[in-house]
Amino acid sequence: MTRSDWNDLPAEVLEAITRTTGPIRGVRSADLGNHADIASTVAGEHGTLFVKAARKLPDKDGPEVMSLRWEAKVNPFLGEFAPRLHWTVESGGWLVLGFEHVPGRHPDYAPGSPDLGLVAQAVQALQKTPLPAVVDRPVTMRWEGLGDASPMAGTALLHTDINAGNVLVTDRREVRFVDWAFVSHGAPWVEMGQMIPWLLGAGHTPASAEEWLGQFPAWAAADSASIDQYARLHVAVWSRRHQMASAEWIGLYLADVRRWAKHRGVLE
Ligand SMILES: Nc1ncnc2c1ncn2[C@@H]1O[C@H](COP(=O)(O)OP(=O)(O)O)[C@@H](O)[C@H]1O
Ligand SMILES: [Mg+2]
Repeated sequence: MTRSDWNDLPAEVLEAITRTTGPIRGVRSADLGNHADIASTVAGEHGTLFVKAARKLPDKDGPEVMSLRWEAKVNPFLGEFAPRLHWTVESGGWLVLGFEHVPGRHPDYAPGSPDLGLVAQAVQALQKTPLPAVVDRPVTMRWEGLGDASPMAGTALLHTDINAGNVLVTDRREVRFVDWAFVSHGAPWVEMGQMIPWLLGAGHTPASAEEWLGQFPAWAAADSASIDQYARLHVAVWSRRHQMASAEWIGLYLADVRRWAKHRGVLE
């Protein structure tokens, strides 16, 4: 999905934006991410917003719109863990979300990086957040038809996609999680499992990644057979995805998932 041209937004949407920002001085498209049609910082005379927008289809919600609906639904329950959603506008064939703009950088997940401790603290705090009733999507859905996903079932609030591109670290070293498109509920340790390929991609070995995860009580308490089953199904779901889509990152991601699964001895 390519980012659509900012100028395609209908006048009603621009009005909603400028009500918060005042006359627009500059629009900068985000460097990372690929879900929403628009994900941009809008700087105006009175303020700055982060705007995410997706084009609606006439008959049903496409994946981009569904992702934004999830983000809008869960945001009021996330407190300081996520940028605040100021408003939602649905107009002229678009769904548009106006978020608080969080100035910050992405953390470095490389071995030894001081950012790892910050992120770990935030993930751990997030684990204590009660599951909002609106999050009625089980994480087990993503392995449907691939095997027994019951070890991953549970009632913890899961972001599920804590890659460095979805994390912002502010100047005050506060951590914010963005991109709640895949928010789900499940076993709490699944949140950590989902981070493994990103840790490997940043230079960790499977052993050092698991050692790092050992600091999380949920991961440390998880049944090792459950994690093995997760590793198996994770390989299965990403192999299927790799067959369907050719994006380079999927191949690299799958290679890291497989490297971890081999380390656990669940893959030849
Ligand atoms: N509220 C925000 N304030 C500042 N930057 C943000 C904000 N939300 C997202 N970003 C930046 O925009 C990028 C893309 O946003 P994201 O929500 O991850 O969209 P996508 O669904 O396209 O991945 C993020 O990697 C982050 O750098
Ligand atoms: Mg993203």
